[in-house]
Amino acid sequence: MYWELNADLATRHTMGCPARGERMVSVTNIGDIRRVLSELRATSSPVFVLGGGSNVVFASDFPGAVIKMENRGVNVEASDSGGDIVRTAAGENWHEFVWWTLERGYVGLENLALIPGTVGAAPIQNIGAYGVELKDRLHSVRAIHMDTLEERAFSLPECRFGYRDSYFKSEPGRRWLIWEVAFRLSADAPLVLEYAELRRRWESAGAPGDASAVAKLVEAIRAEKLPNPAQVPNSGSFFKNPVVSGAHFLALSEKFPEIVSFPLADGSRKLAAGWLIQACGWKGFLENGVGVYPKQALVLINPGHKSGGEVKMLASRIQASVEERFGVSLEVEPLIL
Ligand code: EPU
Repeated sequence: MYWELNADLATRHTMGCPARGERMVSVTNIGDIRRVLSELRATSSPVFVLGGGSNVVFASDFPGAVIKMENRGVNVEASDSGGDIVRTAAGENWHEFVWWTLERGYVGLENLALIPGTVGAAPIQNIGAYGVELKDRLHSVRAIHMDTLEERAFSLPECRFGYRDSYFKSEPGRRWLIWEVAFRLSADAPLVLEYAELRRRWESAGAPGDASAVAKLVEAIRAEKLPNPAQVPNSGSFFKNPVVSGAHFLALSEKFPEIVSFPLADGSRKLAAGWLIQACGWKGFLENGVGVYPKQALVLINPGHKSGGEVKMLASRIQASVEERFGVSLEVEPLIL
């Protein structure tokens, strides 16, 4: 374990913005994590915990310590109450872990295939895709407090999951470093095929019964709609889908009958931010190396490897035009540092 000084962060986050970290250390086990945290406790240096870098944009150099999570390992505990408990180290690659579970016959994570990033980052924003969210499969999260070094498990309700949200995104929650995530998985969970495009492809593939086949269909959809960060720098959806009141939605739908939305249980409406952005003419926009993905307007791209400031500027222009046209404010999804 050693500190790398003036660490290059451009290659360590998927938006690829040029930035440096004052120092960075990779941790591979809980002993390392404890040592690093106790060392840092004595300083007033800011600390940032980095996974795969797919939900963070470095808009400036980071004036502190970056802890890169590289612990590995998966353990299965048989349980007689609805599936096994699968405990996974935070540093494992999410997509590889999804396939690890599928290859062992578990059903449940197939809709979340090909999401970039690490297992430890997944609960922070409650990753979700094609009708499944992480919270639907999660058992608990083990974390260590960065100031007190207290170690504890967070149960599902304690994680306070919401749409792209959790306790770990809040101010106090950000002081907890996640080092293990446990899932409850079984071999006989039902497949989730409520996302229309997935169901359509599944039916034309002959309605295969196994979860691996569904994962492959999800991979195909993602490959068509979303840019591969290894080829086109991006952070996935750059904005959350905004939720508006039923009344606001009615007014909008009278003026814009084509608007795409999803009803929520409480009468409010989730709007497709991609539609709003496209309607403002941004889809396929590219200026000075920063732009909007031509196949999915919710994804900002940075093919020119421009600074996080440039990305932020484009995001603000998009937010302003959506606000002006629809009276809807778009919330940025990735963490901008
Ligand atoms: N749409 C447009 N134009 C666009 C994009 C979308 O009109 O450029 C409309 C279409 O009508 C489409 C609808 O919006 O049917 C929804 O689009 P899509 O199915 O692509 O989903 P999304 O709401 O844009 C969300 C997640 C994605 C996730 C997909 C599939 C958020 C912020 N994003 O996107 O997650 O893969 O659903 O479940 O909730 C991510 O978080 O990084 C991410 C990629």
